[in-house]
Amino acid sequence: MKARHSLQRTLSLGLTVGVTLLWLMGVTASAMVAQHEMNEVFDSALQETAQRILPLAVTDILSREAGTGQKRAPAMGDHEEYLTYLVRDASGKILLQSHDTDISVFDARPRQGFFDTDTHRIYGESAVSDTLFIEVAEPLAHRREAAFEAGLALLLPLLVLIPVSLIGVWWAVRCSLRRVVVFRETLESRGSADLSPIAVERLPAEFEPIAASINRLLERLRRALEAERSFTANSAHELRTPLATALAKVQRLKTELSEKTSLQKASEIEESLHNLARLSQKLLELAKAEGGGVLSEEEHDLVPILETIIGDYERLNPGRIDAQLPNTEVTSLLNPDAFAILIRNLIENALKHGGKGGAVEIRLSADGTVSVKNHGDIVAPSDMALLRNRFVRAETNALGSGLGLAIAEAIVSGAGIRLGLHSPARGWQDGFEAELNVVIKR
Ligand SMILES: Nc1ncnc2c1ncn2[C@@H]1O[C@H](COP(=O)(O)OP(=O)(O)OP(=O)(O)O)[C@@H](O)[C@H]1O
Ligand SMILES: [Mg+2]
Repeated sequence: MKARHSLQRTLSLGLTVGVTLLWLMGVTASAMVAQHEMNEVFDSALQETAQRILPLAVTDILSREAGTGQKRAPAMGDHEEYLTYLVRDASGKILLQSHDTDISVFDARPRQGFFDTDTHRIYGESAVSDTLFIEVAEPLAHRREAAFEAGLALLLPLLVLIPVSLIGVWWAVRCSLRRVVVFRETLESRGSADLSPIAVERLPAEFEPIAASINRLLERLRRALEAERSFTANSAHELRTPLATALAKVQRLKTELSEKTSLQKASEIEESLHNLARLSQKLLELAKAEGGGVLSEEEHDLVPILETIIGDYERLNPGRIDAQLPNTEVTSLLNPDAFAILIRNLIENALKHGGKGGAVEIRLSADGTVSVKNHGDIVAPSDMALLRNRFVRAETNALGSGLGLAIAEAIVSGAGIRLGLHSPARGWQDGFEAELNVVIKR
């Protein structure tokens, strides 16, 4: 699976890296311009020095020829020279030199103008009709050091500016995406049954159409589901009266019939009408369960409701039910009607699909865990995965339409709880178990 990227992270990193690269390019360009300008200044200083020293040197040499002056200029105290000079005649004979001069730096014969050696930048100038030459040398290392220090001075602020811009960009992106994050959290936190419109508050303009589209879609979905539910509920409701009338008529007919085959046929019709009545009842329950409203405003004690339901089934199936309920209250926000429909479907399944006449074990613990277990054949895992879907049935001889577990699932998902189905039942070798925790608090 492709890793998902956070927009905030991508934007913060992308912008910071981009700004840093641009900054580095800017610094490099500035450093190159600064170096060029510095070279010009250094060259001009070199030239200026040569032109200043040359007349003095000429005077000195001429006076030496008259018997005074020295070949090496005296050092004025102990100091390091950046600029060293050499005065020579056209043949290369040294006439005067500064006290720190390294002769190996210069060519054998004097040259004029600017030129570079491996280690020095030199400027040469002539005087007295090209008979005296001065050459002033400056170490290239000196220039490199100046350029390096200038570059460093330009780069150093970056060390502070990069983290500051990262924080700034991250903060700006975070602020502008804050409403989007709230919008996402609102979407995430709502249950799958909640189709009400999402509040869209001050979303960035780019995201507003998305929110509006989602709300339009939710509205259409809600209307379609409502139409489907009300159609199912209305049809089931409308079918009740004609079905009851037909049943009554068939039952009256049976009393009037004496012939065995006719009686048999009338009984079959009665059975079919019963099935139809059961189906319409289940469809009504499903429509109710899917219509939401499975939670109440206040909490109810579910123990007496379960007791009543168990009592009903015990009267119809004497000796088959083994129930254990807690002495304490088990209160929950689960709507009592929804709880009754849910539990009836689970108990009915256990009685109907469990082994013939087999016991059904019902447990409610004080913490609200309900478990309904029955013996019987194990349901194949492939079937187990599908049982919660509408009209899906595993292998069974019992009558039914495959809606009971779909109704139970609609109620639990509407209430935000989970229904566990196990076959074999937990702790047993065979059978089936449905378990869930019915406690829902505010
Ligand atoms: N307690 C159980 N023991 C064994 N099998 C079960 C049990 N509960 C459900 N099943 C299997 O799951 C299938 C689906 O159950 P569901 O309640 O949805 O439908 P149904 O009971 O067949 O019909 P309906 O509930 O609509 O009358 C059943 O047909 C049955 O094969
Ligand atoms: Mg059922």
